[in-house]
Amino acid sequence: MRILLLLHSFNSLAQRLYVELARDGHELSVELDINDETTCEAVRLFRPQLVLAPFLKRAIPSAVWRRHRCLIVHPGPVGDRGPAALDWAILRSEPHWGVTVLQATDVLDGGPVWASAQFPMRRARKGSLYRLEVTEATVLAVREALARVARGERPLPAPAPLPALRPAPTAQERSIDWNHDDSETVLRKIHSADGYPGVQDSIQEHRFRLYDARADGALRGPPGTLLARSGEAICRATRDSAVWIGTLAPLDETLGTFKRPATLALGSGGLGALVDSLPEKEPSEPEIDYHECNGIGYLSFELYNGAMSSRQCRRLQAAYRRARERPTRVLVLTGGSDFWCNGMHLHCIEAADSAADASWENINAIDDLAQEILGTEDRFTMAVLRGNAAAGGVFLALAADRVLARSGVVLNPHYRNMGNLYGSEFWTYLLPRRLTGEAAGALMRSRLPLGTEEACALGLIDAHAGPEPDVLETLVLREAAALGEPATFAARLALKRERRAREETERPLQSYRESELEHMRLNFYGFDPSYHIARYRFVHRTPHAWTPLYLAAHRRTIRAEAMPTSVPGAAATAARTRALCS
Ligand code: COA
Repeated sequence: MRILLLLHSFNSLAQRLYVELARDGHELSVELDINDETTCEAVRLFRPQLVLAPFLKRAIPSAVWRRHRCLIVHPGPVGDRGPAALDWAILRSEPHWGVTVLQATDVLDGGPVWASAQFPMRRARKGSLYRLEVTEATVLAVREALARVARGERPLPAPAPLPALRPAPTAQERSIDWNHDDSETVLRKIHSADGYPGVQDSIQEHRFRLYDARADGALRGPPGTLLARSGEAICRATRDSAVWIGTLAPLDETLGTFKRPATLALGSGGLGALVDSLPEKEPSEPEIDYHECNGIGYLSFELYNGAMSSRQCRRLQAAYRRARERPTRVLVLTGGSDFWCNGMHLHCIEAADSAADASWENINAIDDLAQEILGTEDRFTMAVLRGNAAAGGVFLALAADRVLARSGVVLNPHYRNMGNLYGSEFWTYLLPRRLTGEAAGALMRSRLPLGTEEACALGLIDAHAGPEPDVLETLVLREAAALGEPATFAARLALKRERRAREETERPLQSYRESELEHMRLNFYGFDPSYHIARYRFVHRTPHAWTPLYLAAHRRTIRAEAMPTSVPGAAATAARTRALCS
C-alpha cells in the first residue's frame, strides 16, 4: 500500500512503524504536521492509498480525511478519548491499557474502530510505557488494521453512546502536596507527566518541572525537605518516605526551560549552596549497577533519555575498570531498560558556558570509554541493547565483541541529523569491521532509522530476540555462557588478541580517534555553526518548519523542477512531478 505517515514529529513510535511497514513492503513517505495547507499539498503529491497518523497533536484537516482514508493511532483502549490518554491511565492506576486504531472523522477520537490491542500496565514513567508497551501494541494494531483494509473489510462502529472527551490533566491536578501525598502518589504524578509536560513544583521559591523519579525505601524526613543527593539526583521527603528526582527543567526562561540533571539545574538556578549542603548518599552513581551471575559480569547504566554526560562517561569508565578487576570471562554491558545510549548529553552541553568546550569534553569522555572497551583483551565483552540507541550510542555498543538487541529496538547509526556532525566513538574503525565499505558509506549517509532485523542482516549487530525482554534475557544467558565456555575460552581469546594486535599494526586506534576528532573539532569550533544550531533546536524543541527530504519521498522530485534541463533525467523527472501534482 502507498501510505503517508502524518506526524507531529518522527518520534520513536513513528520510527518503529516506519521500519516495520517498510519491511512489510509498503511504499512510505512522511509529512510532518506543519499546517493544513502543507498537509493537503503532501497528500496531493503522494496520492496515498491511506494516511496513517501515529503521533499527531492536531486534528487532520477535513479536506484530507473526507477524501482519503485516514487512520489515527490513539494510545488508549476502545472508547477512550482525549489528548492525554496515557497520563490519565497512570494517574488512575489503570491495571490494563491499550491502543486503538480509529478512522479520522469530525468527532475527535470518535471514529469507527479498525483495530485495537491491550497490554497490562507497568509502574513506570510515561515515556517508558510509550516506548515499550504502547509501541509494541501499536505495531500489532496497525498491522491488523492494514490487513483489514486490504481485505476490503469495514471498521467497527464507535462505541455508543460515545464517552466524553477527557482533557489533559491540569498542572493543578498533578501538583504535589508534599505534606499529604505519599511516595506512591508523588511517583504516579511525576511518572504521568514524564517526558512531557513535567510536574511543576517549587524548591525554595524557585520553580521547576520534575522528571525521572524513583522511590527510596530508607530515607525519611520532614515532608518536602531535601534529604540527600546521589550522583546528580536529589532526594525529597514525602509523607511516608522519600523519592529521588533525577532531572529538572527550570521554569525560568532566562535559565532555559529545558531538562538537565537535577543538581545541575539547581546550580544554574542559584541553589548550588543548597546542593552542596546535602549529604551524599551511596551509591554515588545511582544510574550504574554491577552484578555477577554464574561467573558472568553484568554492568547496566540507566541513562535518562539515553543521554550520556561527561560525568556519566567517567563514572561508567570507572565502574567498567572495577568490573574488569573481577575474575569473570565475559562482561555484559546491558545499558538501560529504556535506552542503550543516545550519545553525548546535548542538554548538558546546551547548559554549559561554552557549548563547544562541553561538546569537546563529552566526546572525549565517550571516546575514552569506547577505547577502554576496545582495549579489553583479558575477557569477552557483549553489548545488549534493551532499548533504542542513536548516534554515538550505537557505535559505543559496537566497541563490544558481540552485540545483541531486543527485537523492535530502533537504531539510528548515523550522526548527520545533528547538524552534519561527523561523529567519533571510533566509528571509522568499527563500521568497516562489520560492513563492507559500500554498505558502511551508505549507512553513514542515511538518516533513516534501522530495525533490528535489518541491522542483523547488514551485520551491524549479531543477533536479536524478543520483543519480550525475557526472551532477550534467555539469548543473552546462552550467548554469554558460550563466550565464557571454559574448554575453548583461552583459544578464542587468543584469536581476539591476535586480531586486535594485527589491526593495531595496520593502523593504531589512536590514529582513528585523532582523525575523527579533527573533524569534530571543526564541528564544534569551526566556521560552520550547523551543529550548534541543530543542537539548540533539538534541545529547545523548536517546532519543525518543513519536512526534511530524506523523510518526504513525495517532495524529493519537486527539486528536479528547479534543475537546469541539461542535467540528464531532469526533464523526465520534472514531467513526472508535474503529472503527480496535477
Ligand atoms: N542528549 C540529550 N537528550 C536527548 C538525547 C541526547 N543525546 N537524545 C535524546 N534525548 C532526549 C530528547 O531531548 C527527548 O527529551 P524529552 O524527554 O524532553 O522529550 C527524549 O530524549 C526523547 O527523544 P525524542 O527525539 O523526542 O524521541 P525519540 O525517542 O524518538 O528519540 C532519537 C529519537 C534518539 C533519534 C533522537 O532523540 C536523537 O536524534 N537524539 C540525538 C542523538 C545525537 O545526535 N546524539 C549526539 C551525537 S553523539
